[in-house]
Amino acid sequence: MILSASDTAIAQAAQALRDGQLVGLPTETVYGLAANATDDAAVAKIFLAKGRPADHPLIVHVAGVEQVPLFASQVPEFAQKLMQAFWPGPLTLILPRLSGVATASAGGQDSIGLRCPSHPVAQAILQEGLALGVLGVSAPSANRFGRVSPTTAAHVQSELGPELLILDGGECAVGIESTIVDCTRGEPVLLRPGQITRGQIDAACGRTVLDKDALTQAAPRASGTLESHYAPRAKVRLMSGDDIAHKLQALGPHANNLGVWSAERPDDGAGVLWRMQAASAEQAAHDLFSVLRDLDARGVTQIWVQLPPDTPEWEGVRDRLQRAAA
Ligand code: TXA
Ligand code: MG
Repeated sequence: MILSASDTAIAQAAQALRDGQLVGLPTETVYGLAANATDDAAVAKIFLAKGRPADHPLIVHVAGVEQVPLFASQVPEFAQKLMQAFWPGPLTLILPRLSGVATASAGGQDSIGLRCPSHPVAQAILQEGLALGVLGVSAPSANRFGRVSPTTAAHVQSELGPELLILDGGECAVGIESTIVDCTRGEPVLLRPGQITRGQIDAACGRTVLDKDALTQAAPRASGTLESHYAPRAKVRLMSGDDIAHKLQALGPHANNLGVWSAERPDDGAGVLWRMQAASAEQAAHDLFSVLRDLDARGVTQIWVQLPPDTPEWEGVRDRLQRAAA
């Protein structure tokens, strides 16, 4: 059931969370599938609904920095600076977990992922939840495991069915999941790139964020970091703009059930569905998952994507594309 995000609907969502139910939650990045973070039985419903392995940790969403000590045992100074700079917003910090708290949500890790979302509907639900004793809200992206993350309320419903209470907060502004920085290793480590870039992280905390590949100790399991993820049904192939043009030319009228997401409109035949890839990384991130979903829904069997340049602002989009194509 999709409800437009009125005050009544927000109150209803907060009560549902308190009562151990799941809620489809709009955030500025993607829609989340939310449950009361400290209610292990409610959190178990998330894993079941998504078909997600129970040892993949979930992100806990909090109303503000005031809630951090309810979940984290310790916050290094560089992490405090990152919260100051980017919260509320699309940044998740992995911190040492307060023992005994949100155990199911943490998927057995002794750490916890915390994020304070800026979307006004998410904020309102978190605030109302607090008043009802919901200290934080666990929410992975509201898609079935391994599939494309939802960026509209309708996407969530098509993933998880008509029974789920979903608050409609419009299209997600960012469009790809939050940047994740591990703050449990003495140095900031980038686990998942997103809209907030390495350069912005470095500048805000005065340290150089390390690459997760540089870690000697294995990082915890994390679905967003699996090599193959965010996959539509159609096969995704990454190519240069020139390659796309040449291959289409070679196919000529034989191109069939083919989706293309590229910067320039090709001389497409009847069997080619073209979607424009924006020149700005921010706009392309906003469009990415809904383009993949839309082309999928139209029954294409392949999606050819122009791989954007290897520059810092495109890192999040390239990461999702590489996983979608893996
Ligand atoms: O933008 C987002 O972050 C969205 C919205 C809904 O907030 N949420 C999201 O959740 O992307 P999900 O479950 O699809 O991705 C959560 C990822 C995990 O795959 C893992 O990479 C990381 O967060 N994570 C969470 N807790 C962790 C922990 N304790 N240690 C390491 N990684 C963790
Ligand atoms: Mg996800």
